[in-house]
Order: sequence, then C-alpha cells, then structure tokens
Amino acid sequence: MWTIEKEAVSPERVAPIDDYTAWCRDQLFTLEMIEATSLLQRACDLHLSNLYQRELHFADYISSPKTATELAAELGYVDSARIVVESMLLRLSERTGLVRAQQTSGEIVFQARENITEDTDAELDSIRKRLAVLGKNFEAALEFMDFGAEHFAYCLRDDPGFMDKVLSGRDPRFYSLWFRATNEDCLQDVHGIMGAELVHRIFEGGRILEIGGGTGNGMRHLLRRFSESDSLGRIKQYVFTDVSMSFLICTRQELRKLYPTLNTEWRLLDIDRPFLEQRVTPNSADLIYGVNAAHVCRDIVKTLRQCRETLSDDGLIVLSERVRLKPREMAPRELTLNLSICHRSAAIHNPEYRPMHSYLSPDNWAKVLDLAGFRSVQVFPNFEALRQVFPDPYAAVIVAKK
Ligand SMILES: C[S@@+](CC[C@H](N)C(=O)[O-])C[C@H]1O[C@@H](n2cnc3c(N)ncnc32)[C@H](O)[C@@H]1O
Repeated sequence: MWTIEKEAVSPERVAPIDDYTAWCRDQLFTLEMIEATSLLQRACDLHLSNLYQRELHFADYISSPKTATELAAELGYVDSARIVVESMLLRLSERTGLVRAQQTSGEIVFQARENITEDTDAELDSIRKRLAVLGKNFEAALEFMDFGAEHFAYCLRDDPGFMDKVLSGRDPRFYSLWFRATNEDCLQDVHGIMGAELVHRIFEGGRILEIGGGTGNGMRHLLRRFSESDSLGRIKQYVFTDVSMSFLICTRQELRKLYPTLNTEWRLLDIDRPFLEQRVTPNSADLIYGVNAAHVCRDIVKTLRQCRETLSDDGLIVLSERVRLKPREMAPRELTLNLSICHRSAAIHNPEYRPMHSYLSPDNWAKVLDLAGFRSVQVFPNFEALRQVFPDPYAAVIVAKK
C-alpha cells in the first residue's frame, strides 16, 4: 500500500486533492481498467504498425528520409494530414523499432528502419479476447480504433469531412458508434464519472452551464451522482449546450425522461463564437462544466475568457479532460480522432501552452486558465501518487475559480 503525498495547504485551493486521488485509486481505476489501458496502448501500436507496413506501405515511401508534410503530399492526402502522419510516425518511432525520427531544425524527419515482420493480426486478436474477458464495454475502445484503421486513407484522401460527420452526429448511421465510444467505453466513461465526483464535492449549488455536452456523458453522470446523494435540489438550473443539433435532441430526449422535474434548458452554443451573440450573458452561471469539450476550441484562452465572463463572482469552471502527460504523445483513440479535421487542426498553436493539437497537458491547462484570468487553478488527481498503482493515468479534472 502506498501513501499519497499531502498537498501544501493553501487557502487558494478549491478542494483537497489527497481524498480525491485516493477515491480515484480505490473506486475507479480497478485492475481491469489498468490492464485495459495498457492493452489499448499495445493495440494502437499494432494497428499503426499494420497500417505502416502492410496496408499503406509507408516504409517504402520513407526508405529515404522525409518529413510528414512530404509524405502526406506524396500520398495525395489533404494538407492537414501532416498532423496525423507525424503523430503516427512519432509514436512508432518511440514505441516500436520501425521508424527513426530526427529533428535538427524545423520539421521532424522520418526514415524507415528494419522491417520487422510481426503477426499483428494474431496479437490484436488475443488483445480483443482479453478485453472481452475484462468486460463487454472494454471492447468498445478497440472497436473505435478498428473503425479509424479501416477508414484511415479514405478520411485523409477521399472524403476529408467523413470523420467530422461521424463525430458530430451529422451522419446518423454512426450515431451509435460515437455514443458507444463516448459513453459505453469504460476508459472514456471515466471522464464523466471523475468530473461528476469533483463537482459533487465542491459545488454548493446554483446554475450549471455545460459546454460541448454531446451525447451526454457529463450530464448523465453528474445528475446520477447528485441524485444518489439526494442532492439534486442543489442544481437550480442545468443549461446543456453543444454545437450539434442532433446531439441536443437525442440527449434531451433521454435526460428529460430520467429527470422530468429538473429545470433544464437545451441550447446550441458554439464555443468558438462570441457567447453574447448566442444569448449567453455575463453572470448567468455559477458553474461551467465540460467533459472532453473545452479542448476542441480553436482559441482556448479566448474561449476560457468568455466562460469567465459568463460566471457569477466566485463561480467555478470544471473541465474533465483527457490530458497528454508526455509531450507530443498520441493517445490510442487519436488513431480515429485524428482523422477528423476538427480534432487535428482546430487549435491555434502556441509553443508555451498549446504545443500540440487537441488535448493539452495539465501544465498547459493551468497556464491557459491563468491567462484567461481564473484563479485557484487546480488539477486533479495527483498523478505522481496515482502512478504508483496506475502507470498510465490519462484523465484529469481541472478546476478554477472566477
Ligand atoms: C469529444 S466530444 C465530448 C462530448 C461529451 N461531453 C462527452 O464527454 O461525451 C466533443 C463535443 O464537442 C462538441 N463540439 C465540437 N466543436 C464545438 C464547438 N465549436 N462548440 C461547442 N461544441 C463543440 C461536439 O459536438 C462534441 O459533442
């Protein structure tokens, strides 16, 4: 048994971190979750190796050194595919012996190393079986990766908008795939559970505005958590927003049935556009909540400033987010997410706080919230402590006060 380091006591902190970290360790990150996380890392390497060696023959293209921009152009991919190719080759260079990466100045240069013939199919199959034994919903993450691997070149060359349609609910054929990937996948569902637990611990009551609520992972867990402790009365109003009308409609249908007496509003809100123009007024929320939503915005500091404006004095922002703990690491589910234009190219880069597209590191989050004028920024849980039992923690809840 290990102990969690005591945090420095500071009046500026929003909540004690040690209790929350212990809760994550004891209640959430079970042995099954820890094993599934590591299996998925390996499955991602296998899928990428397979694409690199057998499906797309990248090894032949980079037998002489090339940048991701050059390779993407040679393959006839859209311009922003550079980001996908670079993430993939960097991951392969760090985790397999297939590729060499070198950066002197400017873009990274990649070159094929020896061709290792591995039976990726057999190992992927055995991972699939192992995940099935861990539980039905552990397979969901691999199914989502399979979908990305299957549509890889199609999304980068033939129909660049395809994955955006899938992830925004604009193609109804794939609604259930995305719903499963964001809610039923245990490793993803954890984000909603973690956010709900933290909000339950720190939010005394008032009006909640959720941004990028999508298929409802955040709201469903939050209301369940408050309902379990008979404290739904603390929520005076819940305003659920997203940029996608089909997500609004489906989530409203489900959640209204479950909580018919709760004061809810369902609104379109594009977090890249001025909130005021969309009738979101200053001082209209006591808590702004987002689950894997805030990282999608283009200009993160600008969006967070608008969130701050929207909050009442002492209002809270709580963002439950997948984070990059190693600089430039590609998360397994990015095998599929990177195929969306929105995911890979929305961010305005800044070397200080947004060095990569999409997900930020805990330090990046602290910096952007600070730049947006928030105070008492805290990142939960304590990763150093959690790492002693869970080597690859990836989920954080970032909290700050107006
Ligand atoms: C990764 S999903 C997370 C959804 C949900 N919170 C969850 O955890 O299941 C990101 C969500 O952000 C929404 N989104 C994308 N761009 C947006 C924008 N500019 N403004 C508001 N929401 C946006 C998408 O429609 C999607 O529902």
